[in-house]
Amino acid sequence: MKTQVGIIGAGPAGLILAQLLHLQGIDSVILERKSRNNIEGTVKAGILEQTTIDILREMGVGDRMDREGHFHNGNYFQFNGQRRHIDLKKYSGGKQVVVYPQHEVIIDLVNAHYENGKDIIFDVEDVTLHDIDTNQPKIRYRKNGLDEELVCDFIAGCDGYHGPSRLAIPDNIRKEHVHFYQYGWLGILSDSAPAADELIYASHDQGFALLSTRTPILQRHYLQVDPFDDIANWSDDRIWSELTARTKTNDGWQVPDGPINSKGIFQMRSFVCETMQFGRLFIAGDAAHTVPPTGAKGLNLAATDVKVMSRGITEFYQNGSTDLLDRYSEICLRRVWKAERFSYFMTRLLHTNPKFDSFERGVQLAELDYYTSSEAGLSTIAENYVGLPIQWEKAEDLKAVIK
Ligand code: APR
Ligand code: PHB
Repeated sequence: MKTQVGIIGAGPAGLILAQLLHLQGIDSVILERKSRNNIEGTVKAGILEQTTIDILREMGVGDRMDREGHFHNGNYFQFNGQRRHIDLKKYSGGKQVVVYPQHEVIIDLVNAHYENGKDIIFDVEDVTLHDIDTNQPKIRYRKNGLDEELVCDFIAGCDGYHGPSRLAIPDNIRKEHVHFYQYGWLGILSDSAPAADELIYASHDQGFALLSTRTPILQRHYLQVDPFDDIANWSDDRIWSELTARTKTNDGWQVPDGPINSKGIFQMRSFVCETMQFGRLFIAGDAAHTVPPTGAKGLNLAATDVKVMSRGITEFYQNGSTDLLDRYSEICLRRVWKAERFSYFMTRLLHTNPKFDSFERGVQLAELDYYTSSEAGLSTIAENYVGLPIQWEKAEDLKAVIK
């Protein structure tokens, strides 16, 4: 089988890329390890920043998000029992975020893909990459017990943190940066009323808590826990009592509770792979970088990576130029590192570090007070939270841009 772009992985990165390429008349084939039900049913994060909202709308895949998503103009930061509003829209020049869960984005993208008359090859096994430093790279895989080969012009590695694509970049040119946190998140879905009109990020001596939402009757909340804790130690009563303690305000407000219908603990990691390209292989999304969820950036970074990749591939087919493709890593990583910085900053700002002395906790509370009360602080949070723009120009030309 032959195609122009062989895409490994049907997550947000792979599916958005396929749609962007289709709109430019470029053919692609997606290979996915899991089943369609599996990718459409897995609960993941839920915030799309303005940059991603714009990409989905431009691609013609934003209708259901616009109808069913919950658009937020801001969020709340809470500490010392006080709730402070961050007016994201005001401090970012009119931008917003939308609560629209990742699996709903996946459902819309898969439907759009089928409407384009394209297929996704699900349930593939043993995916390997070959000849990526030639003009005819190949992906080999097994499907229904048969060995198959896909010959491509380009390979897009959109196969997440554990996929094979990143490892196909030779060790001597791949530099990986990894940072582990001593914090884990316990996430729940509960049948309860929304906590507020916008998300609440709460810093508390007992640990961080985040009150998010899915629908008017289904809420998504998180608690900072030990990453190696066992979920069996967390009864529903214990979860609600911690969520209540960490998020109640001085005026007596308490989070509405209800039956918990799913719960799990995950560890947080920051990871960046430099470079994001080798020969005809380009990696995107979680295959190239991961962030802790505190800044709500994971899916959004995947979307902007593939926007850069699709533009580079389009230029190649339109006029034979590799200028943009040659700069793919440079353009993506400039934005990736800033999102990594913001996610790391939000994580350190909001989580309770058991090793902190009272001075360090005092500095942390002062930082929270600063960022939620100064115009400069509010602008910094807002412009990063709604998503920084892609900087297409060369970094060394920046002086010419900022006069
Ligand atoms: N062969 C084929 N497909 C694979 C393989 C493989 N060997 N390994 C992984 N995949 C698939 C996974 O099954 C998954 O569907 O690649 C897809 C990668 O999707 P994501 O992990 O969602 O990554 P990405 O598209 O980069 O999106 C990043 O998704 O999981 C969130 O927190 C993450 O929000 C971030 C966003
Ligand atoms: C979520 O709703 O899942 C969510 C929201 C904001 C975050 C992380 C997760 O920062």
